[in-house]
Amino acid sequence: MTEFRISPTTKPLRGTLRVPADKSITHRALMLTPLLQGETRIENFLDSETTRATLNCMRALGAEIVEHDATTLIVRGRGLHSLQEPRDVLWCLGSGTTIRLLAGICAGQHFLSVLDGTPALKRRPMGRIVEPLKQMGATILARDNDRFPPLVFRGGNLRGIEYALPVASAQVKSAILLAGLFTDSPTTVHEPAPSRDHTERMLRAMGVGVTNLSPTTIRVESLSKFEIRNSKFEIPSDISSAAFFIVAALLVKNSELCLENVGLNFGRTGLLDALTRMGAEFSIQNQREENGEPIGDIVVSSAELRATQVGGGEVPRMIDEFPIFALAATQAIGETRVRDAQELRVKESDRVASVAQELRKLGADIEEQEDGFVIAGPTKLRGARVNAHNDHRLAMSLAVAGLIAEGETIIEGWECVADSFPNFSKLLSQVSG
Ligand code: S3P
Repeated sequence: MTEFRISPTTKPLRGTLRVPADKSITHRALMLTPLLQGETRIENFLDSETTRATLNCMRALGAEIVEHDATTLIVRGRGLHSLQEPRDVLWCLGSGTTIRLLAGICAGQHFLSVLDGTPALKRRPMGRIVEPLKQMGATILARDNDRFPPLVFRGGNLRGIEYALPVASAQVKSAILLAGLFTDSPTTVHEPAPSRDHTERMLRAMGVGVTNLSPTTIRVESLSKFEIRNSKFEIPSDISSAAFFIVAALLVKNSELCLENVGLNFGRTGLLDALTRMGAEFSIQNQREENGEPIGDIVVSSAELRATQVGGGEVPRMIDEFPIFALAATQAIGETRVRDAQELRVKESDRVASVAQELRKLGADIEEQEDGFVIAGPTKLRGARVNAHNDHRLAMSLAVAGLIAEGETIIEGWECVADSFPNFSKLLSQVSG
């Protein structure tokens, strides 16, 4: 287990930086471009542990993906029905996005495939994808009454369905929409609240008929009616990675950071809205759109924060940002409440329990609730020995806490940062001197 030691910064954080590419969009590009007919360039892809898992799985399914240079992949697509039976288990590591989205693709193939991963992945709930995929006609087996990995697929002729998601989850929505590509009739998904729509946007950019019947109802046409065209995909920086630097700049006095080229998908910007209510000011510059995704540069400077409430439809829009948001709330004046966030309990760690447990070790006043937190602030944090719980987002949130805590903070289990942000510590020392 690797340890990371961090002491409070003596200088404000300043400068312009580019955090790594978006993890969600990289996974999708790796899964979808091999299904196109012809060559696609994926520029600025995220090279991390979890996206490597997807890349390896796609290669095992017969995809031809060439590493052109450190940031560019060339994918020689052979069409929608070109995947082949893998010889071994498709190893998804600890990546929920890999296993759930690939499940949608494997469900539509006429061969045997098995998806599995680390002990942490084996604890993530899969009934939520198994049930709709079975309704579509897929043959699937999973452990413990179809609830947990491994997932075994034996193909099937799929049909389009209309399905109401019990939780707002982009992974589940995407699994169904991807399986919908292999049906002969349209598939419609209803979400309880809007979640990130990268799959829909990428499919549209590839010429697939995807319609929003309402903000929470999406229909994908079966592909027999569509010509897929070739494309080039340039992946923006990940707002979930930018989030650590955004909060660091807010908390370290006299800081100002510009985070370049960040994806600003509506399903991902809940943190900016919550922090704005708390008194943060963001200036979004160079706004543009690429492959249907909104992008911009985020400029943020330090601010005095006040408490706020988060719940309802905002939760899925900042679902990965609660560890760093909780840290921001420990420095805000008043009582911050997070509700309706039960989903945090089934992420890379039980994020309600792990975030509360570790921030408390640093002196935070944070109370765990069934569906969120109550955080009283501001509290003076003191460095301590803390644990990442094998959760990359918790590890990096604790590192930002270490920047403002008194004395040294030691984070155990630092290696999980490579899941999404391999050069985090390098960028952090770059801006903090
Ligand atoms: C993701 C969706 C979210 C998020 C995860 C990535 C995606 O999960 O937490 O990190 O790429 O679709 P859920 O769909 O389970 O909320």
